[in-house]
Amino acid sequence: MASHDILQLLVSLPGEYVSGERISQQLNVTRASVWKQIKQLKEEGFDIEAHTKKGYCLRKTPNSLNAWVIEQMLETISLGHVLAIEDKLTSTNAKAKELAREEGIHGQVVIAKTQYAGRGRMQREWQSPLGGLWMSVIIRPNLSLANASKLTLAASVAIVDAIEELYQLRVGIKWPNDLLYNGKKITGILGEVVGEWNRVQTLILGIGINANFTSEKLGSGLTVATLQEILGYEVDLNRLAATILKYLEKQVMALEENLFQELRSNWMARAVGLGEEVRVLRGEEVIVGVFKGISQDGELLLSTEQGEERFSAGEVQLRSKLGAYF
Ligand code: BTN
Repeated sequence: MASHDILQLLVSLPGEYVSGERISQQLNVTRASVWKQIKQLKEEGFDIEAHTKKGYCLRKTPNSLNAWVIEQMLETISLGHVLAIEDKLTSTNAKAKELAREEGIHGQVVIAKTQYAGRGRMQREWQSPLGGLWMSVIIRPNLSLANASKLTLAASVAIVDAIEELYQLRVGIKWPNDLLYNGKKITGILGEVVGEWNRVQTLILGIGINANFTSEKLGSGLTVATLQEILGYEVDLNRLAATILKYLEKQVMALEENLFQELRSNWMARAVGLGEEVRVLRGEEVIVGVFKGISQDGELLLSTEQGEERFSAGEVQLRSKLGAYF
């Protein structure tokens, strides 16, 4: 018997005690086996109260990552229903790519509790200690390549919406898809195409959220922040994952229905640095201008001395009140 059968039973009777006898009868197992499974669930972090006379009552599901818990929380049609959580991976994006080349399906998710070779944009390293949400989603959308590049913009809006719903916290987006709180980065997104877009049409959306640890762990505390530091408590990573998937699905569907204008205005409403002087780093080149927003194609619009310039790749640096770029 899987311990999840017991959970299913306890979850279906929230706040109620279920006797060991009832569980053993209903699931056709011995009392000793029920006791053993309950013990295992407790070790996994489920808060189950045991009362000698009344039986067992599920008080709280764990904050730590658990595939079964995420599945129960999902409100999606296609995202997240095939989901694996690994203790340790080089990179969830690398693993998701591997799966996508084999039989990985649209919406399949890979999560790692920690990554030892996590990757960021521009070939950077992405530090991924325990306590973060390191997740990659295989997306096989009904989109042209031009529109596919908008998926990372869509993902950033989806994460902002999830964070706002769960913690009433308003985070900003730095082009193309860094999420910032008070100028500090809490989330990064790495979109990677698998194979040739025309043939395979698969994108891996890698999402990294600094959640339940302190930024000291990253050794770059001045420019990054974590949800735990901002909120003052540990967040439920399962709920965070499920809520992000809910909003992500909504955004992907909207893009498939050609509703980019709505995404564009949602993105702009959350953009940081709009109307301000910013610096764009493109390879060795540094271009200074006023950030005007994003184009119909999702490119960054910069008003420079030479006129309007558009960027589809690069790194934006904002200007602090003291005039320094960061
Ligand atoms: C960035 O801002 O540079 C993008 C960071 C993306 C990090 C995530 S964590 C999950 C997934 N796996 C990776 O190796 N990278 C992405």
